[in-house]
Amino acid sequence: MAKDVKAGEGELRARHVAIIMDGNGRWAKKRLLPRAVGHQRGVEAVRRVVRGARELGLEALTLYAFSTENWRRPEDEISDLMSLMKRFILSDLDEFAAAGVRLKIIGDYKAFKPELVELVEGAMAKTAHNTGTTLAVALNYGSQDEIARAATRAAAKGPITPETIAAELDTADLPPLDLLIRTSGEVRLSNFLLWQAAYAEMLFTDVLWPDFTADHLRDALSAFTTRERRYGGR
Ligand code: IPE
Ligand code: IPE
Ligand code: MG
Repeated sequence: MAKDVKAGEGELRARHVAIIMDGNGRWAKKRLLPRAVGHQRGVEAVRRVVRGARELGLEALTLYAFSTENWRRPEDEISDLMSLMKRFILSDLDEFAAAGVRLKIIGDYKAFKPELVELVEGAMAKTAHNTGTTLAVALNYGSQDEIARAATRAAAKGPITPETIAAELDTADLPPLDLLIRTSGEVRLSNFLLWQAAYAEMLFTDVLWPDFTADHLRDALSAFTTRERRYGGR
């Protein structure tokens, strides 16, 4: 399957794709279902897309799962999201581990309940030596918070430059961000990867996250191959 999107000579091939997985609530609302069902279906989309990313040979897939601003949501929704994350790790970790996926968390995940922190750290440790696709899940992630943390660490070591800050970002060990996708028709970044997106290509789609499939990812990667990236040059 990886062959389908293999870029021809001179075409771009994305190494690192990030997705703002948005629209679970609207997906449920359209069907008169509780938001929690939208989030459950969102997890199924995550599963499909992670498999797709592996099959397509992506080096890194970064998924925005919970933002620093999502704490503003009602407590019951936050707790639904936390239990879905727990269940997802428990049910899918073995498959990831066997498939060579390395799980990484970006964001200040230690703010979560100790039980979830422990689970997440166990999952990272179990897959730390995998060399296939890196799945970076953004938990309690806010780009401004990430940059502030990175700048603090950089300042403690020496002069602050774009390079020294970049080296301290949560994503420092990932390839440069090639393509940022947002589902659900919203056209904003909502505090996601602001630094990393400096020269990323953007793709906004009206598809709601629970409807997103591996084919949508494949199409996005195909579209990416034809983009012309100039990085300010000519
Ligand atoms: C995205 O879906 C999931 C998270 C932000 C955790 P939303 O819950 O934001 O769905 P909409 O935007 O209300 O449709
Ligand atoms: C962004 O979606 C956060 C995640 C997808 C985790 P939101 O639904 O929280 O973003 P806004 O509030 O519409 O900007
Ligand atoms: Mg939303």
